[in-house]
Amino acid sequence: MNRQYSVVLGAAAFALTTFAAQAGAPDAGASAFTSQCQNCHNVVDDDGEVLAGRPNVRTGPNLYGVFGRQAGTVEDFRYGASLVEAGDEGLVWDEENMVPYLLNPVDFLRETLDDRRARSQMSFRVRDEGTANDIIAFLVSLSPEMEEEETAD
Ligand code: HEC
Repeated sequence: MNRQYSVVLGAAAFALTTFAAQAGAPDAGASAFTSQCQNCHNVVDDDGEVLAGRPNVRTGPNLYGVFGRQAGTVEDFRYGASLVEAGDEGLVWDEENMVPYLLNPVDFLRETLDDRRARSQMSFRVRDEGTANDIIAFLVSLSPEMEEEETAD
């Protein structure tokens, strides 16, 4: 494990024990991301460095900086109308609301928009909440806020 990675993970572990009640395990989340998400998503920072997944994967939006971001707003990604509408109505991703989204994106959008005809372009579901929490913990460990917190100390 390189130094930068372990610093980021260390900061994530700190933040998770501090803030998250049902925190997942970033290590387990990393392998779950590899097997379940990286066919469609990657995590690429603003300098173009690939933090997770592979370069040039564009089926799903880049997940770098997803927490605290309005849903459906990665530039140049062609989202479905329902996710964009949810973002316009105030959906901002956090560690709690991403769990039900990952478990069932269609149901999540239908409930959020109160519209039974809402659709999702993400045709994938995580099987259980524990895995969803692990993946979220992994994504948190790669988030820019974490790196800023680390350097601010
Ligand atoms: C089969 C391809 C596919 C897989 C596998 C997949 N996704 Fe997605 N994902 C998408 C697409 C396409 C969208 C855009 C959805 C829309 O526009 O309705 C999306 C959207 C998202 C969003 C919303 C992002 C935003 O900018 O609003 C998140 C978060 C997300 N995916 C996380 C994940 C995670 C975590 C995994 C692994 C458990 C995963 N996805 C697996 C295709 C996929």
